Amino acid sequence: MIVLLLGSGGREHALAASIARSPLLTKLIAAPGNPGIAQHAELRPVAADDVAGVVALAKAEKVDLVVVGPEAPLVAGVVDALAEAGIKAFGPSAAAARLEGSKAFTKELCERRGIPTAAFRRCRTAEEGHAAVEAFGAPVVVKADGLAAGKGVVVATTLQEAHAAVDHVFGGDLGAAGAEAVIEEFMDGEEASLFALCDGTTALLFGDAQDHKRAFDGDEGPNTGGMGAYSPAPVLSHALIERAMAEIVRPTVAAMKEDGTPFVGFLYAGLMVGPDGPRLVEYNVRFGDPEAQVVLPRLKDDLLELMVAAVDGRLAGRKPAFRPETALAVVLAAKGYPGAYRKGSEIRGIEAAEKRPHVTVFHAGTAIENGRLVAAGGRVLAVTATGADASEAQMNAYSAVDLIDWPEGFCRRDIGWRAAAASEEG
Ligand code: AMP
Ligand code: GLY
Repeated sequence: MIVLLLGSGGREHALAASIARSPLLTKLIAAPGNPGIAQHAELRPVAADDVAGVVALAKAEKVDLVVVGPEAPLVAGVVDALAEAGIKAFGPSAAAARLEGSKAFTKELCERRGIPTAAFRRCRTAEEGHAAVEAFGAPVVVKADGLAAGKGVVVATTLQEAHAAVDHVFGGDLGAAGAEAVIEEFMDGEEASLFALCDGTTALLFGDAQDHKRAFDGDEGPNTGGMGAYSPAPVLSHALIERAMAEIVRPTVAAMKEDGTPFVGFLYAGLMVGPDGPRLVEYNVRFGDPEAQVVLPRLKDDLLELMVAAVDGRLAGRKPAFRPETALAVVLAAKGYPGAYRKGSEIRGIEAAEKRPHVTVFHAGTAIENGRLVAAGGRVLAVTATGADASEAQMNAYSAVDLIDWPEGFCRRDIGWRAAAASEEG
Protein backbone atom coordinates (compact mmCIF):
# COMPACT_ATOMS: atom_id res chain seq x y z
CA MET A 1 0.00 0.00 0.00
CA ILE A 2 1.03 3.57 -0.66
CA VAL A 3 0.17 5.67 2.39
CA LEU A 4 0.13 9.46 2.73
CA LEU A 5 0.48 10.77 6.29
CA LEU A 6 -0.59 14.37 6.98
CA GLY A 7 1.08 16.45 9.68
CA SER A 8 4.49 17.43 10.99
CA GLY A 9 4.56 16.91 14.75
CA GLY A 10 5.76 14.35 17.24
CA ARG A 11 2.44 12.54 17.00
CA GLU A 12 2.95 12.12 13.26
CA HIS A 13 6.52 10.88 13.80
CA ALA A 14 5.11 8.21 16.13
CA LEU A 15 2.40 7.33 13.58
CA ALA A 16 5.05 7.12 10.84
CA ALA A 17 7.27 4.83 12.92
CA SER A 18 4.36 2.44 13.58
CA ILE A 19 3.04 2.51 10.00
CA ALA A 20 6.57 1.86 8.69
CA ARG A 21 6.64 -1.45 10.57
CA SER A 22 3.63 -2.78 8.67
CA PRO A 23 4.20 -5.53 6.10
CA LEU A 24 1.29 -4.00 4.14
CA LEU A 25 3.29 -0.85 3.42
CA THR A 26 5.10 -0.37 0.12
CA LYS A 27 5.70 3.38 0.36
CA LEU A 28 5.08 6.04 2.97
CA ILE A 29 4.78 9.69 1.97
CA ALA A 30 4.36 12.51 4.49
CA ALA A 31 3.13 16.06 3.97
CA PRO A 32 4.74 18.22 5.12
CA GLY A 33 6.52 15.94 7.64
CA ASN A 34 9.71 16.74 9.57
CA PRO A 35 13.28 15.40 9.74
CA GLY A 36 12.26 12.60 12.12
CA ILE A 37 9.38 11.51 9.89
CA ALA A 38 11.85 11.58 6.98
CA GLN A 39 13.57 8.51 8.51
CA HIS A 40 10.44 6.57 7.53
CA ALA A 41 8.83 8.54 4.70
CA GLU A 42 9.39 10.61 1.60
CA LEU A 43 8.41 14.21 2.35
CA ARG A 44 6.30 16.45 0.12
CA PRO A 45 5.97 20.21 0.72
CA VAL A 46 2.17 20.34 1.02
CA ALA A 47 0.55 21.83 4.15
CA ALA A 48 -1.62 19.32 6.04
CA ASP A 49 -4.63 21.68 5.95
CA ASP A 50 -4.29 22.58 2.24
CA VAL A 51 -7.27 20.41 1.29
CA ALA A 52 -6.99 20.90 -2.49
CA GLY A 53 -3.23 20.37 -2.35
CA VAL A 54 -3.62 17.15 -0.37
CA VAL A 55 -6.19 15.75 -2.82
CA ALA A 56 -3.93 16.61 -5.78
CA LEU A 57 -0.93 15.00 -4.09
CA ALA A 58 -2.87 11.85 -3.17
CA LYS A 59 -4.05 11.48 -6.78
CA ALA A 60 -0.62 12.16 -8.28
CA GLU A 61 1.05 9.60 -6.00
CA LYS A 62 -1.74 7.02 -6.45
CA VAL A 63 -2.14 6.85 -2.69
CA ASP A 64 -4.19 3.94 -1.27
CA LEU A 65 -4.79 5.46 2.17
CA VAL A 66 -4.41 8.95 3.65
CA VAL A 67 -3.81 9.06 7.42
CA VAL A 68 -4.66 12.41 8.99
CA GLY A 69 -2.66 13.37 12.11
CA PRO A 70 -3.93 16.80 13.27
CA GLU A 71 -7.47 18.12 13.74
CA ALA A 72 -7.38 21.20 11.48
CA PRO A 73 -7.54 19.30 8.15
CA LEU A 74 -10.29 17.06 9.57
CA VAL A 75 -12.44 20.00 10.63
CA ALA A 76 -11.70 21.58 7.23
CA GLY A 77 -13.13 18.50 5.48
CA VAL A 78 -10.07 16.80 4.02
CA VAL A 79 -11.60 13.35 4.48
CA ASP A 80 -14.76 14.41 2.62
CA ALA A 81 -12.73 15.93 -0.22
CA LEU A 82 -10.63 12.75 -0.51
CA ALA A 83 -13.76 10.58 -0.48
CA GLU A 84 -15.19 12.62 -3.37
CA ALA A 85 -12.00 11.91 -5.27
CA GLY A 86 -12.36 8.19 -4.50
CA ILE A 87 -9.44 8.08 -2.05
CA LYS A 88 -9.69 6.32 1.31
CA ALA A 89 -8.75 8.29 4.38
CA PHE A 90 -8.38 7.40 8.05
CA GLY A 91 -10.08 10.09 10.10
CA PRO A 92 -13.56 11.55 10.57
CA SER A 93 -15.58 13.58 8.05
CA ALA A 94 -16.02 17.29 8.78
CA ALA A 95 -19.48 16.54 10.20
CA ALA A 96 -18.06 13.94 12.60
CA ALA A 97 -15.07 16.16 13.45
CA ARG A 98 -17.54 18.56 15.10
CA LEU A 99 -16.98 16.40 18.21
CA GLU A 100 -13.79 18.46 18.53
CA GLY A 101 -14.62 21.45 16.33
CA SER A 102 -17.67 22.56 18.33
CA LYS A 103 -17.88 22.23 22.10
CA ALA A 104 -21.61 23.12 22.00
CA PHE A 105 -22.26 20.29 19.52
CA THR A 106 -20.61 17.76 21.84
CA LYS A 107 -22.27 19.06 24.99
CA GLU A 108 -25.71 18.85 23.35
CA LEU A 109 -25.01 15.32 22.14
CA CYS A 110 -24.02 14.33 25.69
CA GLU A 111 -27.17 15.91 27.08
CA ARG A 112 -29.42 14.08 24.59
CA ARG A 113 -27.74 10.73 25.30
CA GLY A 114 -27.29 11.06 29.06
CA ILE A 115 -23.49 10.90 28.74
CA PRO A 116 -21.84 12.02 31.99
CA THR A 117 -20.18 15.44 31.63
CA ALA A 118 -20.24 18.85 33.31
CA ALA A 119 -23.53 20.80 33.32
CA PHE A 120 -23.34 23.60 30.74
CA ARG A 121 -25.00 26.54 29.05
CA ARG A 122 -24.54 27.47 25.42
CA CYS A 123 -24.21 31.26 25.08
CA ARG A 124 -24.52 33.22 21.85
CA THR A 125 -23.80 36.68 23.29
CA ALA A 126 -21.54 38.13 25.98
CA GLU A 127 -24.68 39.05 27.92
CA GLU A 128 -25.81 35.42 28.02
CA GLY A 129 -22.27 34.42 28.99
CA HIS A 130 -22.16 36.80 31.95
CA ALA A 131 -25.59 35.61 33.12
CA ALA A 132 -24.47 31.96 32.92
CA VAL A 133 -21.32 32.73 34.92
CA GLU A 134 -23.48 34.29 37.65
CA ALA A 135 -25.84 31.31 37.60
CA PHE A 136 -23.03 28.74 38.04
CA GLY A 137 -20.93 30.77 40.49
CA ALA A 138 -17.15 30.30 40.90
CA PRO A 139 -15.23 28.14 40.17
CA VAL A 140 -16.59 27.92 36.63
CA VAL A 141 -15.17 27.07 33.20
CA VAL A 142 -15.50 29.40 30.20
CA LYS A 143 -14.88 27.96 26.72
CA ALA A 144 -14.91 29.37 23.22
CA ASP A 145 -17.06 27.10 21.05
CA GLY A 146 -14.61 26.45 18.20
CA LEU A 147 -10.99 25.42 17.66
CA ALA A 148 -8.75 27.95 19.40
CA ALA A 149 -5.39 26.15 19.53
CA GLY A 150 -5.61 25.60 23.28
CA LYS A 151 -6.35 29.29 23.98
CA GLY A 152 -10.11 28.96 24.23
CA VAL A 153 -10.57 27.53 27.74
CA VAL A 154 -10.36 29.34 31.08
CA VAL A 155 -10.87 27.53 34.36
CA ALA A 156 -11.88 30.55 36.43
CA THR A 157 -11.54 30.41 40.21
CA THR A 158 -13.24 33.80 40.71
CA LEU A 159 -16.30 35.42 39.12
CA GLN A 160 -14.14 38.35 38.05
CA GLU A 161 -11.84 36.03 36.08
CA ALA A 162 -14.87 34.29 34.57
CA HIS A 163 -16.47 37.55 33.40
CA ALA A 164 -13.14 38.63 31.89
CA ALA A 165 -12.95 35.28 30.06
CA VAL A 166 -16.45 35.80 28.65
CA ASP A 167 -15.41 39.24 27.36
CA HIS A 168 -12.31 37.65 25.83
CA VAL A 169 -14.33 34.98 23.99
CA PHE A 170 -16.68 37.55 22.48
CA GLY A 171 -13.99 40.21 22.08
CA GLY A 172 -13.00 39.07 18.60
CA ASP A 173 -9.43 37.87 19.28
CA LEU A 174 -10.41 34.24 18.79
CA GLY A 175 -12.09 34.84 15.41
CA ALA A 176 -14.75 32.34 14.37
CA ALA A 177 -13.93 30.12 17.38
CA GLY A 178 -15.40 32.85 19.61
CA ALA A 179 -18.77 33.16 17.85
CA GLU A 180 -20.31 31.27 20.76
CA ALA A 181 -19.27 30.28 24.27
CA VAL A 182 -19.96 27.29 26.47
CA ILE A 183 -20.06 27.97 30.21
CA GLU A 184 -19.55 24.84 32.32
CA GLU A 185 -19.77 23.58 35.83
CA PHE A 186 -16.26 23.00 37.27
CA MET A 187 -15.47 19.30 37.68
CA ASP A 188 -13.09 18.17 40.38
CA GLY A 189 -10.95 15.07 39.99
CA GLU A 190 -7.96 13.63 38.17
CA GLU A 191 -7.69 13.94 34.40
CA ALA A 192 -6.86 11.03 32.14
CA SER A 193 -7.24 10.22 28.47
CA LEU A 194 -8.78 7.26 26.73
CA PHE A 195 -8.34 6.46 23.04
CA ALA A 196 -10.75 4.55 20.83
CA LEU A 197 -10.26 3.23 17.32
CA CYS A 198 -13.57 3.66 15.49
CA ASP A 199 -14.99 2.37 12.19
CA GLY A 200 -18.29 4.27 12.28
CA THR A 201 -20.08 1.49 14.18
CA THR A 202 -17.57 -0.19 16.49
CA ALA A 203 -15.34 1.61 19.00
CA LEU A 204 -12.35 -0.39 20.28
CA LEU A 205 -10.29 0.62 23.28
CA PHE A 206 -6.94 1.82 21.95
CA GLY A 207 -4.92 2.64 25.05
CA ASP A 208 -4.98 5.18 27.84
CA ALA A 209 -2.59 7.88 29.05
CA GLN A 210 -2.10 10.93 31.20
CA ASP A 211 -0.31 14.08 30.13
CA HIS A 212 1.19 17.13 31.81
CA LYS A 213 -0.29 20.28 30.30
CA ARG A 214 1.49 22.88 32.45
CA ALA A 215 4.90 24.19 31.36
CA PHE A 216 6.82 23.83 34.63
CA ASP A 217 7.62 21.27 37.33
CA GLY A 218 4.97 20.64 39.93
CA ASP A 219 2.28 21.17 37.25
CA GLU A 220 2.78 24.94 37.52
CA GLY A 221 2.92 27.68 34.92
CA PRO A 222 1.04 28.28 31.69
CA ASN A 223 -0.91 25.64 29.77
CA THR A 224 0.86 24.04 26.82
CA GLY A 225 0.03 21.43 24.20
CA GLY A 226 1.57 18.88 26.60
CA MET A 227 5.05 18.69 28.19
CA GLY A 228 5.04 14.93 28.66
CA ALA A 229 2.84 11.89 28.99
CA TYR A 230 2.78 8.28 30.08
CA SER A 231 0.77 5.20 29.31
CA PRO A 232 -0.95 3.39 30.91
CA ALA A 233 -2.59 5.83 33.35
CA PRO A 234 -2.60 4.30 36.86
CA VAL A 235 -5.79 6.23 37.77
CA LEU A 236 -7.73 4.30 35.09
CA SER A 237 -8.45 0.85 36.48
CA HIS A 238 -9.92 -1.79 34.15
CA ALA A 239 -13.31 -1.12 35.73
CA LEU A 240 -13.11 2.64 35.12
CA ILE A 241 -11.99 2.10 31.53
CA GLU A 242 -14.90 -0.26 30.92
CA ARG A 243 -17.30 2.29 32.43
CA ALA A 244 -15.91 5.10 30.28
CA MET A 245 -16.25 2.95 27.16
CA ALA A 246 -19.79 1.88 28.09
CA GLU A 247 -21.12 5.23 29.41
CA ILE A 248 -19.22 7.73 27.25
CA VAL A 249 -17.40 6.47 24.16
CA ARG A 250 -19.72 3.78 22.78
CA PRO A 251 -22.91 5.88 23.23
CA THR A 252 -21.19 8.74 21.41
CA VAL A 253 -20.19 6.56 18.47
CA ALA A 254 -23.73 5.09 18.38
CA ALA A 255 -25.26 8.59 18.39
CA MET A 256 -22.99 9.77 15.58
CA LYS A 257 -24.01 6.79 13.48
CA GLU A 258 -27.71 7.26 14.13
CA ASP A 259 -27.42 10.93 13.24
CA GLY A 260 -25.94 10.02 9.85
CA THR A 261 -22.42 11.23 10.65
CA PRO A 262 -20.55 8.03 11.59
CA PHE A 263 -17.22 8.54 13.32
CA VAL A 264 -14.17 6.88 11.73
CA GLY A 265 -10.70 7.39 13.17
CA PHE A 266 -9.16 7.88 16.58
CA LEU A 267 -11.53 9.31 19.16
CA TYR A 268 -9.66 10.80 22.11
CA ALA A 269 -11.81 11.18 25.22
CA GLY A 270 -10.47 13.60 27.84
CA LEU A 271 -11.91 12.35 31.13
CA MET A 272 -12.26 13.70 34.63
CA VAL A 273 -12.18 10.88 37.15
CA GLY A 274 -14.04 12.02 40.23
CA PRO A 275 -15.96 10.42 43.09
CA ASP A 276 -18.87 9.50 40.77
CA GLY A 277 -16.62 7.86 38.18
CA PRO A 278 -15.46 9.14 34.80
CA ARG A 279 -17.03 12.18 33.15
CA LEU A 280 -16.22 13.64 29.74
CA VAL A 281 -14.17 16.85 29.66
CA GLU A 282 -13.82 17.02 25.89
CA TYR A 283 -13.33 15.02 22.74
CA ASN A 284 -10.52 15.29 20.25
CA VAL A 285 -10.99 13.66 16.87
CA ARG A 286 -7.37 12.60 16.43
CA PHE A 287 -4.62 11.08 18.52
CA GLY A 288 -3.07 13.12 21.32
CA ASP A 289 0.36 14.72 21.14
CA PRO A 290 2.45 13.60 23.09
CA GLU A 291 0.03 10.75 23.95
CA ALA A 292 0.66 9.05 20.59
CA GLN A 293 4.34 8.92 21.48
CA VAL A 294 3.55 6.77 24.54
CA VAL A 295 0.57 4.70 23.37
CA LEU A 296 1.81 3.66 19.92
CA PRO A 297 5.18 2.28 21.12
CA ARG A 298 3.18 -0.17 23.29
CA LEU A 299 1.02 -1.43 20.40
CA LYS A 300 1.69 -5.06 19.49
CA ASP A 301 -0.55 -5.15 16.42
CA ASP A 302 -0.09 -3.82 12.91
CA LEU A 303 -1.31 -0.19 13.06
CA LEU A 304 -1.76 0.15 9.31
CA GLU A 305 -3.84 -3.03 9.13
CA LEU A 306 -6.06 -1.75 11.96
CA MET A 307 -6.50 1.62 10.24
CA VAL A 308 -7.53 -0.05 6.99
CA ALA A 309 -9.98 -2.24 8.93
CA ALA A 310 -11.42 0.92 10.53
CA VAL A 311 -11.88 2.69 7.19
CA ASP A 312 -13.50 -0.46 5.74
CA GLY A 313 -15.86 -0.87 8.72
CA ARG A 314 -14.36 -4.19 9.81
CA LEU A 315 -13.43 -3.61 13.46
CA ALA A 316 -16.21 -5.70 15.04
CA GLY A 317 -14.76 -8.48 17.19
CA ARG A 318 -11.20 -7.09 17.13
CA LYS A 319 -9.18 -6.18 20.22
CA PRO A 320 -5.95 -4.22 19.72
CA ALA A 321 -3.21 -5.60 21.99
CA PHE A 322 -0.71 -3.52 23.94
CA ARG A 323 2.41 -4.53 25.87
CA PRO A 324 1.94 -4.22 29.64
CA GLU A 325 5.07 -2.07 30.07
CA THR A 326 4.88 1.67 30.79
CA ALA A 327 5.96 4.19 28.16
CA LEU A 328 6.83 7.73 29.22
CA ALA A 329 7.66 10.75 27.05
CA VAL A 330 9.49 13.91 28.07
CA VAL A 331 8.95 16.87 25.74
CA LEU A 332 11.89 19.19 25.04
CA ALA A 333 10.62 22.66 24.17
CA ALA A 334 12.28 25.90 23.11
CA LYS A 335 12.92 28.29 26.02
CA GLY A 336 9.98 30.71 26.16
CA TYR A 337 7.38 28.19 24.97
CA PRO A 338 4.34 28.41 25.18
CA GLY A 339 5.07 32.15 24.78
CA ALA A 340 7.52 33.62 22.27
CA TYR A 341 10.61 31.52 21.50
CA ARG A 342 13.53 31.59 19.06
CA LYS A 343 14.04 29.22 16.15
CA GLY A 344 17.24 28.02 14.54
CA SER A 345 19.34 26.80 17.50
CA GLU A 346 21.30 23.59 16.88
CA ILE A 347 20.36 20.31 18.57
CA ARG A 348 23.02 17.63 19.15
CA GLY A 349 23.12 14.26 20.85
CA ILE A 350 19.99 12.58 19.52
CA GLU A 351 21.95 9.57 18.26
CA ALA A 352 23.57 9.09 21.67
CA ALA A 353 20.16 9.38 23.35
CA GLU A 354 18.67 6.78 21.03
CA LYS A 355 21.45 4.33 21.85
CA ARG A 356 20.11 4.11 25.39
CA PRO A 357 18.03 0.96 25.84
CA HIS A 358 14.27 1.25 25.20
CA VAL A 359 14.50 4.86 23.97
CA THR A 360 13.05 6.57 20.90
CA VAL A 361 13.41 10.27 20.14
CA PHE A 362 10.43 11.67 18.25
CA HIS A 363 10.83 14.91 16.33
CA ALA A 364 8.17 17.62 16.59
CA GLY A 365 9.46 21.09 15.69
CA THR A 366 12.79 20.37 14.01
CA ALA A 367 14.31 21.29 10.67
CA ILE A 368 17.55 20.69 8.79
CA GLU A 369 19.45 23.90 8.02
CA ASN A 370 22.81 23.71 6.25
CA GLY A 371 23.14 20.09 7.27
CA ARG A 372 22.48 20.80 10.96
CA LEU A 373 19.44 19.76 12.96
CA VAL A 374 17.84 22.89 14.41
CA ALA A 375 14.80 23.84 16.48
CA ALA A 376 11.89 25.03 14.35
CA GLY A 377 8.95 25.11 16.74
CA GLY A 378 7.79 25.40 20.35
CA ARG A 379 7.68 21.72 21.22
CA VAL A 380 10.77 20.33 19.52
CA LEU A 381 11.38 16.71 20.61
CA ALA A 382 9.67 14.01 22.63
CA VAL A 383 12.00 11.50 24.25
CA THR A 384 10.07 8.28 24.88
CA ALA A 385 11.33 5.39 26.98
CA THR A 386 9.70 2.20 28.12
CA GLY A 387 10.18 0.36 31.38
CA ALA A 388 8.63 -2.36 33.50
CA ASP A 389 6.84 0.36 35.48
CA ALA A 390 6.57 4.15 35.50
CA SER A 391 9.66 4.66 37.69
CA GLU A 392 11.82 2.61 35.35
CA ALA A 393 10.40 4.31 32.24
CA GLN A 394 11.02 7.70 33.86
CA MET A 395 14.63 6.82 34.70
CA ASN A 396 15.25 5.52 31.18
CA ALA A 397 13.71 8.62 29.60
CA TYR A 398 15.69 11.15 31.65
CA SER A 399 18.97 9.26 31.15
CA ALA A 400 18.41 9.78 27.41
CA VAL A 401 17.22 13.39 27.81
CA ASP A 402 20.50 14.15 29.60
CA LEU A 403 22.47 13.13 26.49
CA ILE A 404 20.73 15.70 24.31
CA ASP A 405 22.83 18.79 23.92
CA TRP A 406 20.51 21.73 23.31
CA PRO A 407 21.15 24.67 25.64
CA GLU A 408 18.30 26.69 24.10
CA GLY A 409 15.73 24.10 25.15
CA PHE A 410 14.07 23.09 28.40
CA CYS A 411 12.03 20.21 29.75
CA ARG A 412 10.19 19.34 32.91
CA ARG A 413 12.15 17.09 35.28
CA ASP A 414 9.08 15.50 36.90
CA ILE A 415 7.11 13.92 34.06
CA GLY A 416 5.19 10.94 35.43
CA TRP A 417 5.59 11.93 39.09
CA ARG A 418 2.14 10.68 39.99
CA ALA A 419 2.56 7.35 38.17
CA ALA A 420 6.11 6.86 39.50
CA ALA A 421 4.86 7.41 43.06
CA ALA A 422 2.09 4.88 42.43
CA SER A 423 4.56 2.30 41.05
CA GLU A 424 6.90 2.82 44.00
CA GLU A 425 4.02 2.18 46.40
CA GLY A 426 3.73 -1.13 44.58
P1 AMP B 1 -10.60 21.37 26.99
O1 AMP B 1 -9.94 22.14 25.87
O2 AMP B 1 -12.08 21.37 26.94
O3 AMP B 1 -9.99 20.02 27.18
O4 AMP B 1 -10.15 22.10 28.31
C1 AMP B 1 -8.78 22.29 28.63
C2 AMP B 1 -8.54 21.91 30.06
O5 AMP B 1 -9.37 22.69 30.92
C3 AMP B 1 -8.87 20.48 30.39
O6 AMP B 1 -7.83 19.62 30.08
C4 AMP B 1 -9.15 20.57 31.88
O7 AMP B 1 -7.92 20.59 32.61
C5 AMP B 1 -9.78 21.91 32.03
N1 AMP B 1 -11.26 21.79 32.03
C6 AMP B 1 -12.07 21.89 30.95
N2 AMP B 1 -13.36 21.74 31.31
C7 AMP B 1 -13.37 21.56 32.64
C8 AMP B 1 -14.41 21.39 33.62
N3 AMP B 1 -15.70 21.40 33.29
N4 AMP B 1 -14.03 21.24 34.91
C9 AMP B 1 -12.73 21.28 35.28
N5 AMP B 1 -11.72 21.45 34.41
C10 AMP B 1 -12.02 21.60 33.11
N1 GLY C 1 -1.88 16.45 24.69
C1 GLY C 1 -3.17 16.96 24.47
C2 GLY C 1 -3.67 16.90 23.08
O1 GLY C 1 -3.12 16.27 22.21
O2 GLY C 1 -4.71 17.51 22.84
